Amino acid sequence: VEASLLPPRLSGRRLLVSAGPTFEDIDPVRFIGNRSSGKMGFAVADAARRMGAEVTLVAGPVSLPTPPGVTRVDVRRAAQMREAVLAALPGMDAYIGAAAVADYAPAETLPQKLKKSGDSLAITLVRTADILADVAAHAARPRLVVGFAAETQDLEAYARDKLHRKGLDLIAANDVSRAGHGFEGDDNALSVFWRDGRHDIAHGPKTRVARELLQLLADRLEAME
Ligand code: CTP
Ligand code: CA
Repeated sequence: VEASLLPPRLSGRRLLVSAGPTFEDIDPVRFIGNRSSGKMGFAVADAARRMGAEVTLVAGPVSLPTPPGVTRVDVRRAAQMREAVLAALPGMDAYIGAAAVADYAPAETLPQKLKKSGDSLAITLVRTADILADVAAHAARPRLVVGFAAETQDLEAYARDKLHRKGLDLIAANDVSRAGHGFEGDDNALSVFWRDGRHDIAHGPKTRVARELLQLLADRLEAME
């Protein structure tokens, strides 16, 4: 059958994607955040829609337009992202956790602006819940749970550790220490790992990298049927 006559690879699939950073508020004017631009997750959501999927995108604070045809839910903090993701979970075929979720958040958010006093300041941070691990262990677990891993060293070992520890089906790892492979640019490269496999996606535009990642995901979904 000619490729152009086949239905799009992800038609009939429902995908939930998280993207962007989270901002954890210290007081009304300050927060702890990270350098994630959200571009990778938005590219995944856009590519999935173009490949025929029904896509819900839970987005942290980013300044990016909503990809056409994608349902977007905006959140700020890790705890809100977790709520939004778990609420959207039932009926999803896949979860793709591309968000750079804060690992720690201030123990409390002050209601008024913190005034300076003294020569140093200590802020108590507490661990956030791991959204990805919670999705993988959830009663409404999608058939495919995909994580990202941002690493600066020992890429495969750390990525495979996350794959096992969090109970994932796929993990897409990128070396954020390399120029042009990071959080803020338009380009990326990914090494994708699963239990008995590996696929390297060459460095290039996040749009193409996203499409290649979704081809792998489509392969895995089809292999499950
Ligand atoms: N993640 C999550 N919730 C968290 C932290 C991380 O859902 N509270 C998800 C991210 O969306 C990503 C994956 O876990 O898909 C890996 O994130 P990463 O920061 O690389 O790993 P961590 O498990 O947080 O470990 P560390 O930061 O110590 O390397
Ligand atoms: Ca982390």
